[in-house]
Amino acid sequence: MVFFSMNVPSSAPRSNIPDMPSVDDLLPYLRQIDENRWYSNFGPLAQTFETRFAQRMEKAHKLPDKTLSCVGLASGYQALTIGLRLLGVVPNDKVLIPSVTFPACPLAAAPLGAEAILSDVDPQTWTLTPEIARQAASKMKLAAVMSVCVYGFPLPAEEWDAFSRETGVKVIIDAAAAVEAQKYPETCLVAHSLHALKPFGIGEGGLLVARDPDLIQQARERINFGMKDHITYQTGENAKMSEYHAAVGLAQLTRWEDIKKRRQKIYETYKLFFESLQDLTSIHPLLEKTIASSLMISLKEGNALEVFNRLQQQNVAVHHTYLPPLYEHPAFAGLEVTGKEGANEIKHKALGLPFHAFLSDEEIGKIVQKLRESL
Ligand SMILES: Cc1ncc(COP(=O)(O)O)c(C=O)c1O
Repeated sequence: MVFFSMNVPSSAPRSNIPDMPSVDDLLPYLRQIDENRWYSNFGPLAQTFETRFAQRMEKAHKLPDKTLSCVGLASGYQALTIGLRLLGVVPNDKVLIPSVTFPACPLAAAPLGAEAILSDVDPQTWTLTPEIARQAASKMKLAAVMSVCVYGFPLPAEEWDAFSRETGVKVIIDAAAAVEAQKYPETCLVAHSLHALKPFGIGEGGLLVARDPDLIQQARERINFGMKDHITYQTGENAKMSEYHAAVGLAQLTRWEDIKKRRQKIYETYKLFFESLQDLTSIHPLLEKTIASSLMISLKEGNALEVFNRLQQQNVAVHHTYLPPLYEHPAFAGLEVTGKEGANEIKHKALGLPFHAFLSDEEIGKIVQKLRESL
């Protein structure tokens, strides 16, 4: 099963096309870089981007001013690694991670010498739930849980706060593709990916968001070689966001409302076409609660692999994002797994259809027609 090839010919159908700012959108910010002659190391554009992003999220979630602090990073992967460091994860600690997610999640635990434990996921929400984490925490000593907003599905912030308070286990929410859709909990850290293929894409980048400004200040030191006043007191790395990436981030903030509208329109069009397929397949209900980054459907027959192959033969850019479960990836074969039932069920019923802002109604109609013929 092929998931993504770096050698995709330009004529091949694409499941996702980034919605990025044009050169004209970027120019005012690039000119500021010219004037400032400041290119990285917490420059003025990165600082402005962080402030504006936090303000935008406070407004979206009706939070008082200055509730949120955030720091820009070079990638979502690094937001996870640094996030785990901030939670105090040290060598040999166990970190519970869902087995239906992107490989970045267990890989992020590796530089810390921590042990990733692959958790089963709930077959309804396709996520690692607080209940599943509670069961794991009753059987082993966990240092942290990395719960993941797969496909941008938002997680219950209050429930994760309650889990963390009750068990004492720290939580990082990997809200990679769930910018704005994910609420910011009281205690848990939130990481975003700003990769080009995410709804809020800047090329490569990430964000760590927390209510505790001290934690974000510590993140700033960790992403700059662990340095404070040029002295390294603790381990760290170079994971800073450059001014060029912050420029794209600032341009995206001005485009964000339009980006959301375009994605919502594509989602609504798919929904209309899916009405006639109700008995055979459905769009995952949690897509309603996010700014969709991909169109995930659930096949009632559980024959996802066959349907995938038939659609591929018809030149439809189907995908199996976050599948197969991570325990089937050779690199993770040695990891402890808490259960496979939910993840295996999802493997047999989940399928991704092309989803991006540039699909016409006609193209969507054709994709759904081909799906109908393939079921
Ligand atoms: C769930 C999840 N976590 C983490 C990442 C890693 O983010 P990045 O590509 O920005 O490093 C991704 C990227 O696709 C992701 O989907």
